[in-house]
Amino acid sequence: MKVHVLNGPNLGRLGTREPEVYGASTYADLVALCESTGRDLGLDVTVRQTDAEHELLGWLHAAADEGAAVVLNPAAWSHYSYAVRDACAMLRGPLIEVHISNIHTREEFRHHSVVSPVATGVICGLGLSGYRLALHHLAAGQGAR
Ligand code: DQA
Repeated sequence: MKVHVLNGPNLGRLGTREPEVYGASTYADLVALCESTGRDLGLDVTVRQTDAEHELLGWLHAAADEGAAVVLNPAAWSHYSYAVRDACAMLRGPLIEVHISNIHTREEFRHHSVVSPVATGVICGLGLSGYRLALHHLAAGQGAR
């Protein structure tokens, strides 16, 4: 099973970015975690991060064409990007939205995600474990749209 783990803006700064919110693990740690979890579960996992919205849209379009599963942390785009939301709506495979922090306990503007209504499921507030749990869920075949 092909799974794209896609990360939006500023997530490449994990480790130095507000560690009191996002923890001390780096983006490289996140990539290693997803790749090793994917290997253990027999998933074909690719992990990417971008600060450019058009790049994320291109990756989502490709995932839609492939019918692949997606684990997506849309980061700040979660809260206002209808373009990301519309690209997610085109996916044919399952979409798990992940947030490292609990967006519901933070600033008001983070409480709403425009992506969640088109996601299969949402995990937030569990740190990097959220990505691991999303991959386990997909590997168990529980991710059907
Ligand atoms: C985030 C939460 C968003 O509100 C924020 O803009 C991020 C990261 C998270 O993983 O907790 O960049 O998606």
